[in-house]
Amino acid sequence: MSLPARVYLNGEFMLPSSARISVFDRGFVFGDGVYEVIPVYGGRPFRLAHHLQRLDASLAAIRISNPMTPREWENIFLELAGECGPIDQSIYLEVTRGVAPRDHAFPAGVTPTVFAYAQPLTYPAIDQVQEGVRAITVPDIRWSRCDIKAIALLANVLMRQNAVEHGCTEAILVRDDRVTEGSASNIFIVSGGVLSTPSKGPFILPGITRDLVIELSHANEIPCVEKEIHKSELFSADEVWMTSSTKEILSIVRIDDRRIGTGRPGPMHARLQALYQDYKHAFRRGGAE
Ligand code: PDD
Repeated sequence: MSLPARVYLNGEFMLPSSARISVFDRGFVFGDGVYEVIPVYGGRPFRLAHHLQRLDASLAAIRISNPMTPREWENIFLELAGECGPIDQSIYLEVTRGVAPRDHAFPAGVTPTVFAYAQPLTYPAIDQVQEGVRAITVPDIRWSRCDIKAIALLANVLMRQNAVEHGCTEAILVRDDRVTEGSASNIFIVSGGVLSTPSKGPFILPGITRDLVIELSHANEIPCVEKEIHKSELFSADEVWMTSSTKEILSIVRIDDRRIGTGRPGPMHARLQALYQDYKHAFRRGGAE
């Protein structure tokens, strides 16, 4: 994956090679910041209001005031996305507390660092969509504020690497015998025609794709509940999925080397996948949000 042609840093658009941040930036030193990943279809940021609301919530949780209005954010995204033309893209944005001498407590009077770029969206390989992917379960070793989209992702990095070393695409995180989410995705199961996903709270990221899947299922009279999911329910489920802005809805067909359902993406996956793609196409043509 090549570097983007231009990035946004602290009020300016520039070549990535010209973008510089201080080694004393608290994002670098403490992981003291938050981020978002927003898909762009047909030149429009997808579910923008939802992503900006989640950004607001993450910033409020770490007590950084949002340095930009929604319109200012949108203008930055449109400018960055305009660089790559009409192809599907993803925007990465990061806000850190800013630059200050190293001390854990908040420094006074610092200006947040704001960084953003767009890149072509890398979709999962077609065989991953058609055949499904494998996952392992791992203990959720993260903290108790997983609802904050924090840039400090060391636990997620370690858990995902564990999955990769087991020949898997995702790690499904388990806390107190309950499924929380994936290392970079939310988890759904399908049992007896009912979709379930863990409820929101401090142990999961409130995924934008998760919310859209729930919205689409309600709109189409597909039973969908938010509830606790015990680890054992993964193995008795007819289908298990992971969802995220970049992976969309992927079927997980083997977990810990055990077959899930028929071992192939199931009919409910095909249904939600079609609804999701229709929604995206409508958005691309200027409808939806
Ligand atoms: N991650 N849970 C975690 C821990 C995540 O990191 C993500 C997304 C999700 C899904 O959220 P959404 O549907 O809003 O993308 C759930 C992004 C894509 C990333 O870190 O690259």
